[in-house]
Amino acid sequence: VRVEFLDYEAIDDYGWSLDDDDLFRKASHADLDESAHGRLLVQPDESLLEGAENRGFTWPFSCRGGACANCAVFLVEGELSQPTDHIMPEDLAERGFRLSCNGYPVSDELKIVFNVKQLPELDDLIL
Ligand code: FES
Repeated sequence: VRVEFLDYEAIDDYGWSLDDDDLFRKASHADLDESAHGRLLVQPDESLLEGAENRGFTWPFSCRGGACANCAVFLVEGELSQPTDHIMPEDLAERGFRLSCNGYPVSDELKIVFNVKQLPELDDLIL
């Protein structure tokens, strides 16, 4: 599964928004560090977080068990599974927030923003 990723910090730094239609195009033109924007391949038996780690990236996490939201990502394109055993509230899940520690890619391509835990709407979930 091909994953294009973007660090929320870059969005914040540049004053972009999660809802920008051309977010990833802007990121491509912004000369970001390769840990902030790039692509990686995730194997079917890897969660998104494991996939990132196994390719040498360091993304935020804490519990690894769907209980803290430190690993939260925002889906821009594609779908990531969401096991029933997790803390993401329905309304945030509907907007596209997922947990990377127990989310497995279910589409061939994904575009995600990682490091979204600093968003105010996720504040209550972070343990
Ligand atoms: Fe805690 Fe993913 S690391 S929910």
